Amino acid sequence: MSNIFSLEGKIALVTGASGLLGKQHCIALAEAGATVIAADIHGDKIHLLTDELPVKVTPMRLDITDTASLSSVRERIMGTFGTIDILINNAAVNDMVENNDKDVQSSSFEHYPLYLWKKVMDVNVTGVFLTCQYFGAIMAKKNYGSIINIASTYGIVAPDQSIYVNSNGERFMWKSPSYPTTKGAVIQFTKYLAAYWGKNNVRVNALSPGGVENNQEADFISNYSNKTPLGRMSHNNDYHGAIVFLASDASSYMTGANLVVDGGWTII
Ligand SMILES: NC(=O)c1ccc[n+]([C@@H]2O[C@H](COP(=O)([O-])OP(=O)(O)OC[C@H]3O[C@@H](n4cnc5c(N)ncnc54)[C@H](O)[C@@H]3O)[C@@H](O)[C@H]2O)c1
Repeated sequence: MSNIFSLEGKIALVTGASGLLGKQHCIALAEAGATVIAADIHGDKIHLLTDELPVKVTPMRLDITDTASLSSVRERIMGTFGTIDILINNAAVNDMVENNDKDVQSSSFEHYPLYLWKKVMDVNVTGVFLTCQYFGAIMAKKNYGSIINIASTYGIVAPDQSIYVNSNGERFMWKSPSYPTTKGAVIQFTKYLAAYWGKNNVRVNALSPGGVENNQEADFISNYSNKTPLGRMSHNNDYHGAIVFLASDASSYMTGANLVVDGGWTII
C-alpha cells in the first residue's frame, strides 16, 4: 500500500523558517520526503539553518510583505525546482512573553500604538495574502497544491489576560489586540481561498497551534498549563504530525478547515 503521508517528490516552501516553529515545520516536511525551501526575512539566521537543522533545506531570504522579494524568490524556486506543491504560511510577528522588551502600559488596549497595529496587520494578514497570490497561483494553474496557514488559538478565542500576571499579582504584559485579530483574519482568509481554489484542487487549511514552551517565566508556564486540559504547554515538535497530515494526500478531502492542536485550550 502506498504511504498517503509521503511527501516524496514534493516541493515545499516554509515562511518564517528560522523561527521557533518554522524550523520544526521544515524538519517535519523534509523527514516526510519533501524538498524544503526555508525562507525568512532574517537572511543571516536563515543561512545558518543548513548547519543547524538535522535535515537538508534550501535557505532563501524572503520578506513576505515585499512584492519584489516575493517575485525574486518565486523566480528562484521556479528556476531551480520548476514548481511548488506545498506552502506553509508560518511567518508572523507576535508579542511574546519571552521577549524582554515588554512595556506593560503600552501593551494595554488603551495605549497600544497604531504603528504596531499596522505592522502586525501587514505581516500577519497582508503577508499571507501576498504569499498565496505569488505561490498559490502556480498551484492553481497546475491543479495541485496544499497551503497551510498558521493561525492560533487566539484566532478562535480571546486571550485570557489573567495568565499574564505572576504569582505576586503583578502584571507583566497584556496580550495585544493586534495578534488575535490577525489570526482570526487568517482563519477566515483560509476559508475564502479554499472556496475560491477548490475547483483547482488547491487545498487551503489553517493550523491553530497552542502556546509553545520556550523559556518563559515559570509563573506564565504554570498559569498556561493550569488552563490546558492536557496540563502543559506544547513542545516545539508537537505539530509535526499535523503539518505532514495537512500537506500530504492523507488530508485529500479536507479544505477550508482549521485544525486545532492546542492540548484542549479552546474547548473550555
Ligand atoms: N510560538 C507559539 O506559542 C505559537 C502559538 C500559536 C501560533 N503560533 C504561530 O506560529 C507561527 C510561528 O511562530 P513562532 O513562535 O515560531 O514565531 P517566531 O517569532 O519564532 O518566528 C517567526 C519568524 O517569522 C519571521 N518573519 C517575521 N516577519 C517576516 C516577514 N515580513 N517575512 C518573512 N519572515 C518574517 C521572523 O524572522 C521569524 O523567524 C506564527 O504564525 C505564530 O503566530 C505560535
